Amino acid sequence: MILLVTGGAGFIGSNFVKHRLSNTDDKIIVLDALTYAGVLYNLKEFLDSSNLLVPSSQRDLRVVEKRLMTNALSFEKIRDDSESKRLSFKLEDFFPRYVETEKIPDEISKVFKDKRVVFVVGNIIDNVLDEQLTKISDIVVHFAAESHVDRSIFNADAFVKTDVYGTYSLLEATRKSQSVKKFIHISTDEVYGQAKDRPFKETDPLNPRNPYSASKAAADRMAYAYYQTYNVPVIMIRPSNNFGPFQYPEKLIPVMTINALKGEMLPVYGDGRQRRDWLYVEDTARAIDLLIEKGKIGEAYNVAGHNERENVFIVERILEITNKPKTLIRHVEDRPGHDVRYLIDDTKIRELGFKQERSFESLFDDTVRWYMQNQQWWEKILKMDEEYTAFMKAWYEMRR
Ligand code: NAD
Ligand code: DAU
Repeated sequence: MILLVTGGAGFIGSNFVKHRLSNTDDKIIVLDALTYAGVLYNLKEFLDSSNLLVPSSQRDLRVVEKRLMTNALSFEKIRDDSESKRLSFKLEDFFPRYVETEKIPDEISKVFKDKRVVFVVGNIIDNVLDEQLTKISDIVVHFAAESHVDRSIFNADAFVKTDVYGTYSLLEATRKSQSVKKFIHISTDEVYGQAKDRPFKETDPLNPRNPYSASKAAADRMAYAYYQTYNVPVIMIRPSNNFGPFQYPEKLIPVMTINALKGEMLPVYGDGRQRRDWLYVEDTARAIDLLIEKGKIGEAYNVAGHNERENVFIVERILEITNKPKTLIRHVEDRPGHDVRYLIDDTKIRELGFKQERSFESLFDDTVRWYMQNQQWWEKILKMDEEYTAFMKAWYEMRR
């Protein structure tokens, strides 16, 4: 089977790509714009200059490539152009090939003669590119999104563009495809909004309360609308908070682990009594496998971790594992509109046969240790990605 995986350089997407490569014979087309959250290194072992393609329509990237070539990978000489600099960091050590967008399908079939992965550096809002890729794919797994709630509170623009318009663009391309049999849309438990005591079922109304979850709810319903209206074979999956290796260092677990390792303060929003339900990233990948195989078209499926913990519990456990003092904890100004709790009922996917394999405690400890052992991975991001650093500085300075 050929899978088109959007957002495959991100946290869940890259874990999913590796999971499918190890457990199936699939060939995988990754479509990823390499935003601040897309890290090419997450898939490093599968990439070289033969399978990294840049469609000619991606004009910004062509400029970057030229600069990379002429400057022999020197960041110094392109310091004037922050977009180029950010992308040059993403493409460092990789030499992508430029291909006319219309010729991408032919190029991909050539690469697939001896490789199982093709990485296309492109944006899902590029409908011409989406059409070229969906016409040669059997399954679409759509992860690409702006995914961080705090950033959406700061500025929701990119969220509406990518999560809403980008999803629409990909659905529209899939509508024209003769080959796509299933389109797995990665939604989120946040679309239901804040929970009280009763877990939300798939049939409950959506009530998102922050700009990120509002854009995800719009995308979720747009996917459903494409099923109802045009018979596009869509399935929506709504997982709870994922954790595991390669999570971008802006989310709770990596932020707190990295700050603990650096001996810096751990910024807990408000009283830290908010709760999240933690789902291991590999379990999300297995839930998606199950929906590819057995999921019913037009349906939504919740996936819970059944590991609800208060944020303070998570933070204190990180301090224990990293052997750092509790005095590093700092209660800072709360996130505006903070959802205190998410809670979902995932009986529906469990009835298809889904279950977790390992305990939360051991998976959590292993995850924290992964960040301890892979310091180079996050240090490189912290050092090189100025867009990320600028956001983190501005956001946390506001909350002191
Ligand atoms: P992430 O931020 O780590 O990765 C997102 C990826 O999408 C990056 O590689 C980025 O470069 C790419 N991308 C962003 N905009 C793009 C665009 N316009 N075109 C092409 N690529 C683009 O996100 P994640 O945490 O891995 O989440 C993946 C998906 O799962 C998202 O849809 C998110 O809403 C959903 N989700 C995440 C969680 C979680 O806990 N992380 C839980 C439930 C659902
Ligand atoms: O529930 C699924 C969602 O989980 C996904 O759809 C989102 O893409 C994903 O980012 C995640 O959203 P959260 O807002 O729950 O995740 P985050 O890691 O940002 O925050 C988890 C909790 O920790 C939340 O209550 C806010 C709190 N927090 C977070 C950070 C980054 C802090 O107290 N301090 C922090 O510095």
